[in-house]
Amino acid sequence: MAKQQVRFVCRECGAQSAQWIGRCPSCEAWNTYEEESVEKKKTSSAKKSIEQENIPTKLQDISYQKEERINLNNGELNRVLGGGLVNGSITLMGGEPGIGKSTLMLQVAVSLKNTPILYVSGEESEQQIKMRAERIGFVNEACYILSETVVELIIKQIKNIKPKFVVIDSVQTLVSQQVESSAGSITQIRETAQELQQYAKYFNIPIILIGHITKEGQLAGPKILEHIVDTVLQFEGDRNYDYRILRTIKNRFGAAAELGIFEMQSNGLKEVSNPSDILISQHENNLSGVAISATIEGIRPMLLEIQALVSSSVYGNPQRSTTGFDVRRLNMLLAVLEKRNGFRLSAKDVFLNIAGGIKSKDPGIDLAVIAAILSSNEDIPIDRKVCFAAEVGLSGEIRGVNRITQRILEAEKLGFKKIFVSKYNIQSIDIKKSAIEIVPLTTVQNLYHQLF
Ligand code: TYD
Ligand code: MG
Repeated sequence: MAKQQVRFVCRECGAQSAQWIGRCPSCEAWNTYEEESVEKKKTSSAKKSIEQENIPTKLQDISYQKEERINLNNGELNRVLGGGLVNGSITLMGGEPGIGKSTLMLQVAVSLKNTPILYVSGEESEQQIKMRAERIGFVNEACYILSETVVELIIKQIKNIKPKFVVIDSVQTLVSQQVESSAGSITQIRETAQELQQYAKYFNIPIILIGHITKEGQLAGPKILEHIVDTVLQFEGDRNYDYRILRTIKNRFGAAAELGIFEMQSNGLKEVSNPSDILISQHENNLSGVAISATIEGIRPMLLEIQALVSSSVYGNPQRSTTGFDVRRLNMLLAVLEKRNGFRLSAKDVFLNIAGGIKSKDPGIDLAVIAAILSSNEDIPIDRKVCFAAEVGLSGEIRGVNRITQRILEAEKLGFKKIFVSKYNIQSIDIKKSAIEIVPLTTVQNLYHQLF
């Protein structure tokens, strides 16, 4: 008997090797190589006869029908999918354990009236799912629950029930009878996802796969799955807070930067259609160290509250700590304040927090961060009707940001009186026309004089 051929595949990035390696040379992750057997499939496609050959078609002669979308009865979810779930598509939803993936999908499955939906769970028992559905409240009498992990048997049930769509919780529990490998391994994930994808396309039934995220914040077998599926959504949030963000990472049927916001309540996830209202904490008095930033998350304008605390360091080594903001970026901004503007911050502890457990990578948040730090350092509060939107460069210059008009409009809509922006950003805007006062800045020094 011929010796079975094996190869090793990196769980994180999908790189391959003939030998086991401790550290992946391509993504530098440790201990991620997994053995996989190489089957020489007798592919018929390689031996296609000349008669079966596909012939090139002129682009203008290709016709198609506009994809049909299923309205999921959930505004935020519809939005991140680009306007509903596309028939025959495969969507992958990733997120850390306990973030609310199962809750959200079950909620959608039970809220659509009289729509046959198949919810497959390899993680929870039917009783557990029923209990959860009762907690959320259900109206869909045609929602089927299946406790199964073998993909061929799931497909059999899909054929029986012919649901409007299928939810599979989770892709890591699936096994295919075609390959011998344990559930959750690269081989199984790839094989099962491929089988489901072919099926979804063939019968035009969309499938939503739930996937777990590894400690490093990546989907297990990420690259491999991302190639197979049409849409990748990521569920994020801090488990200690109630807000959850659903982001589109990839979407073959819509924009890839969409964002949906939910709040976890005792009876499921509630849509948050106006996030700025909630994310800015309501207190009566002006407090020092608080600044509001007009940010763009994905393509959505959102006002975030930045809180800073600057205090004299007790130890020789001052602390810098952040939640929701990159600590290296904070260090850079502190260095700018120190070197360019002469603020003595190197002997002080600096803590920075974005309220509501939200994480932001928008560079336009810089100016609000600087304002919050200065406000805490001087112990002078900033008026609560003032907000900020600009990036800060290494020489202390205030730089323009994208979608400035959208940011200004959002601030105006929420009743802000004044917004600080970069001078280079507003050439295209008619300042006098807006109800909100737009203050152009060129340097951090400018900001300081305007504020205090
Ligand atoms: P879950 O959907 O099981 O997370 P995942 O599938 O991503 O692992 O969410 C579980 C958490 O949500 C759990 O800690 C309880 C909480 N929860 C609520 O707060 N309210 C609810 O209505 C439900 C169903 C769950
Ligand atoms: Mg779950």
